[in-house]
Amino acid sequence: MECLRSKARTPLNGTGLIGKEPWWKAAVFYQVYPASFKDSSAEGWGDIPGLISELDYLADLGVDCVWLSPVFESPQADMGYDVSDYQAIYAPYGTVVDVDRLTAECHARDMKLILDLVVNHTSVEHAWFKESRSSKTSPKRDWYIWRPARYDSHGRRIPPTNWRGYFAGPTWTWDEDTQEYYLHLYAPDQPDLNWENDECREAIYNDTMRFWLDRGVDGFRIDTVNKYSKRTEYVDAPVTDPQSDSQPAPEMWCNGPRIHEFIREMNQKVLAPYNAVSVGELSNMASPHDVIPYVSASAKELDMVFEFSMIRLGTGGGFGPKYIYRPYTLSTFKETVKKFQTFIEGTDAWTTVFCENHDNGRAVSRFGDTSTPELWRASAKTLALWQITLTGTLFLYQGQEIGMVNMPSEWGIEEYKDVESRNFYQEAVDSGDEQRVRDTMHGLRILARDHSRIPFQWDGGKKNAGFSEGDRTWMRVHDGFGEINAMKQRGDQGSVLEFWKRALRLRKRFKDLFVHGRFTALEEGDEKRFVYLKESTTESGGNRRALVVMNWSKEVQKCVDVKKSLGCEGADEVRLLFSTTDRGPKMVGGEHEAALRPWEGRVYVNFEAGDI
Ligand code: GLC
Repeated sequence: MECLRSKARTPLNGTGLIGKEPWWKAAVFYQVYPASFKDSSAEGWGDIPGLISELDYLADLGVDCVWLSPVFESPQADMGYDVSDYQAIYAPYGTVVDVDRLTAECHARDMKLILDLVVNHTSVEHAWFKESRSSKTSPKRDWYIWRPARYDSHGRRIPPTNWRGYFAGPTWTWDEDTQEYYLHLYAPDQPDLNWENDECREAIYNDTMRFWLDRGVDGFRIDTVNKYSKRTEYVDAPVTDPQSDSQPAPEMWCNGPRIHEFIREMNQKVLAPYNAVSVGELSNMASPHDVIPYVSASAKELDMVFEFSMIRLGTGGGFGPKYIYRPYTLSTFKETVKKFQTFIEGTDAWTTVFCENHDNGRAVSRFGDTSTPELWRASAKTLALWQITLTGTLFLYQGQEIGMVNMPSEWGIEEYKDVESRNFYQEAVDSGDEQRVRDTMHGLRILARDHSRIPFQWDGGKKNAGFSEGDRTWMRVHDGFGEINAMKQRGDQGSVLEFWKRALRLRKRFKDLFVHGRFTALEEGDEKRFVYLKESTTESGGNRRALVVMNWSKEVQKCVDVKKSLGCEGADEVRLLFSTTDRGPKMVGGEHEAALRPWEGRVYVNFEAGDI
């Protein structure tokens, strides 16, 4: 029974009827970081056969599409985000035939597979770059970005601009042989491709995209998608860090003058003809409004993007002080979530939902509470409840479904393998400022990319948590794997894993509300509770509502006025759809306003949901 009739409201997000929506809107995507998922060869490094052996686990969880982080041939300067051959597979992962088998095995389970497309840059070892650097007259010289040196007033050679790269240090490296600098936004091992060059773009479309689409993959997660068009004046960025020779300059390469033209072309020439799904990595967006042109259906650019405002909370910005932890309040966090939930309303654009990936610390360690096993479990479930009730396409990261946590805080810098962590730490050491070293280490313990890259914890009773039978693993296995592992949680109805499974089923069953619903923030200034309403309009013009109430603290909190928030007239019209605790759906009348336990989350609805 619906207790409220609809008033005139904006149409459903993304417009159109749900029945006609593309498959990827309500789908659950799952990111696999292959080096750390499952090793079948006892080398201590995950591989594609290992991933295939766990596809049933993913199907059982409720995954619809696997996103595989890069497995291409690579010197691994940045864990495969430095590709030296797009058509070959890095041997420890397997072969092209293994990828074909993975595609077939996913499809056999009604799952899709997307690959990571890394085409802002290649590795220095890629044949294109080798040719480009071979001489100034090489036919591929212009496939990368080469510039002459400048000289300062003392006649010393300095780079063409003062830009700082993402991994610390300048964005330019001097090439002795041809006496010019090449541009790299990331490590010197990752030279940027020149998207201004038509032949280069055609080669990208053909050799990196069509090659894999022709083999049957379903689309791509597109790395650094808004960095392909640089500002071609190549001028200095304003000096904002006077201590350093290099200055943050994302405005010089993010959302550049030709970016929409390039992405539209990529869509028209490759993505659309193959009906391939696309999700782009979009950083440095000033406002949600600027995101719309990338994901508006009528713009025909990308299906989806990842926008990072929420996941970057706590960092000290993208550049120099990135790992100097900056505390923030729950209300700021909620404000960010609201912004990226509501910006698509009334448009034909679409959004994504995620709180983990391979470039960030674990969500339960950052946003939840890992101080006791009880709070860990409660907060991991509440984070799951939060994610599955948000509008947009949901992306999970491997291990999130079992509540994997950050590396132990007593581990030293030697356990951090990531190029970014190591460079930031080294920069702090080189500064000679001991406080900065301590602060950087503190930030790394919370935010480093390494936390999400340690081996998956499959089984508490097995060597290396069941990740590998090898004697060594490429990253250290978490000491707490006996407590947190998939085997222990499988079949345990109180576990984080089983909660995720149920929650994902509910998300799909009530996708009008959870995947597509309108979002209204409630109790916005509250620093302990996270409360919002999701609404949808049914075909008969009725108004279905879900009220999400979460205690985002370790203390008991009062519940909100559920009846009023849901707009119900009688208390018996309120239903508890589900919760993170053992409270059942029979909780009616006054009971539904029982105090919230620490990190408890609940979803109430204004209609009879039937058996769930
Ligand atoms: C993206 C990837 C990150 C990588 C960078 C350079 O941000 O997610 O892991 O280091 O691109 O390719």
